[in-house]
Amino acid sequence: MKIERFDSKEELYARAVAIMVEAKHNGATTFGLATGGTMEPLYAKICKTDIDFSNCISFNLDEYVGLQANHEQSYAYYMHKHLFHEKPFLASYLPNGLAADPLEEAARYEALLQQHSLDFQLLGIGQNGHIGFNEPGTAFDSLTHLVTLEESTRQANARFFSSIDEVPTQAFTMGIQSIMRAKCILLMAVGETKREVLERVLASDYTENIPASVLSKHPNVMILTDLQVEEN
Ligand code: GLP
Repeated sequence: MKIERFDSKEELYARAVAIMVEAKHNGATTFGLATGGTMEPLYAKICKTDIDFSNCISFNLDEYVGLQANHEQSYAYYMHKHLFHEKPFLASYLPNGLAADPLEEAARYEALLQQHSLDFQLLGIGQNGHIGFNEPGTAFDSLTHLVTLEESTRQANARFFSSIDEVPTQAFTMGIQSIMRAKCILLMAVGETKREVLERVLASDYTENIPASVLSKHPNVMILTDLQVEEN
């Protein structure tokens, strides 16, 4: 894993945009996308560039179960609001959080992913080390699946909802193996709330207790952070 530290968020996000532009320039056409507060400034900056994704395909990491696509906190809504309205892709896929049969939906999404190998994957990180919605303890060989969210994850995301009771209890997520198949991964850990987890990831061994620690085995991972953390 390569890590780049920045003194300002402005520089960090400019670098993230440059990395995505370069990936596209080098032929990437299939992008794995992430949501969350960390990605909002990135997408805002991308919208101001002339990058054209109209020949590209996107796959989102995850989606809540039970929210309509037009619910303001669904990830489908988030992606339209922050990126797709300005930068449409040829096709954009997200898990369907309203699917009647969760097992079938997870299998459908995984099959789509396997048909279009990801050239580039964006990742944020949860305070418990989750990537996508793969909570601690998730098997490193997991594929797309339904998860029950940890209470701490619901608490962390409650800031986007009017109350914690409205935060869904379940979500679909790409599995860890699905994420690790991407050719290149860009993880962004921004802000003080990510210091402890980033230090744990950098100091830890490869362990399913810290999902992001799997990235140490990936040949092409870049971490961008505004935290002055030590690398082991
Ligand atoms: C969320 C998402 C992740 C995201 C992470 C961090 O729960 N499922 O994909 O990367 O947690 O979110 P944020 O950027 O808001 O801190």
